[in-house]
Amino acid sequence: MTLTTPPPPIGAARIGPYVLPNRVILAPMAGVTDQPFRQLCRRLGAGWVVGEMVTADPSLWHTRKSQRRMDHRGEPDPRVVQIAGGDAEMLAQAARLNAELGAQIIDINMGCPAKKVCNKAAGSALLRDEALVAEILDAVVAAVDIPVTLKIRTGWCAESNNGVRIAQLAEAAGIQALAVHGRHRQQRYTGQAEYDTIAEIKSRLSIPVIANGDITNPEKGAEVLAYTGADAVMVGRGAQGNPWIFQQVDHYLQYGERMALPSLTERHQVLHSHVAALHAFYGTTMGVRIARKHVGWYLSDDPRFTPPQQRALKQQFNALASPERQFTWINDAMALDAATRLLAKGSYAA
Ligand SMILES: Cc1cc2nc3c(=O)[nH]c(=O)nc-3n(C[C@H](O)[C@H](O)[C@H](O)COP(=O)(O)O)c2cc1C
Repeated sequence: MTLTTPPPPIGAARIGPYVLPNRVILAPMAGVTDQPFRQLCRRLGAGWVVGEMVTADPSLWHTRKSQRRMDHRGEPDPRVVQIAGGDAEMLAQAARLNAELGAQIIDINMGCPAKKVCNKAAGSALLRDEALVAEILDAVVAAVDIPVTLKIRTGWCAESNNGVRIAQLAEAAGIQALAVHGRHRQQRYTGQAEYDTIAEIKSRLSIPVIANGDITNPEKGAEVLAYTGADAVMVGRGAQGNPWIFQQVDHYLQYGERMALPSLTERHQVLHSHVAALHAFYGTTMGVRIARKHVGWYLSDDPRFTPPQQRALKQQFNALASPERQFTWINDAMALDAATRLLAKGSYAA
């Protein structure tokens, strides 16, 4: 399937030499935004995509997990590599090495909760220490001659929502775009994202600001853009099982109405090619396992099935242990009378 790429919108955000083709970006998600998913989202309309975070410690890069995370073969420009760590010198070195390996933009992770790298605080835990944040940003920006971007939360905690100060530090350090998740670190993923802090950050900065958090449909994307004045929105969990969300938000922004939902044939094609890409990228054993969580998300998002049917179908799929069985099941599940036929079969693996 080919999508014609429309010209970038007037006033489109620019990050270094790269102009965002639209205003909808795939968020980095460890364990989700691997190469097959990034390529799929890109093909289905994501303006650009950010990979899973890579540890800043090069001594861990030989592991298969890191090697896979650093694999950007066949991906269109710009290849954005996110690094995570807590040591300025190590992050600077990681940025340099990734640039040598083909990264075109380095993104620094100060947005992800509950992460420690080499026993040092990393991700959003860094937001508590503004001096360290400044040291890291200066070191990484000085280390590479490609654009460096930053992803943060609105701050450390409710009492110290220091996102605005961090954002100003970032701009002063030469960061070229800032993504802000509308929750502070202590909230983790609870409660609802707030967009006031993002709006305030946008009003104080002249670099592109990307609004993130709880964007799961086109109307919400448009509302968040209008409310915050942000240059783009970043979608994470809303893309799980719905990689069409990028074109859906983009279409809504352009025409003020929802585009038609993907047809059953289109869903079938995408699901099939996604699972095939997972098998090819991870090998059959791991590919079959990883396909389960993605198919689970597609099922949760499939309006043909009730929640109990979705649960039953996920159970069936999770019991399948080979690529062939997974493909046969997918072909069956994508038939019009799928629910009746599949559920009548009971245990599919038998
Ligand atoms: C499974 C998962 C993995 C994540 N991994 C990363 C990561 O590697 N780097 C990062 O900066 N944020 C990470 N995040 C945070 C997301 O990028 C995003 O900020 C957050 O999910 C809020 O956006 P959403 O409501 O659209 O999902 C992760 C989130 C999830 C759910």
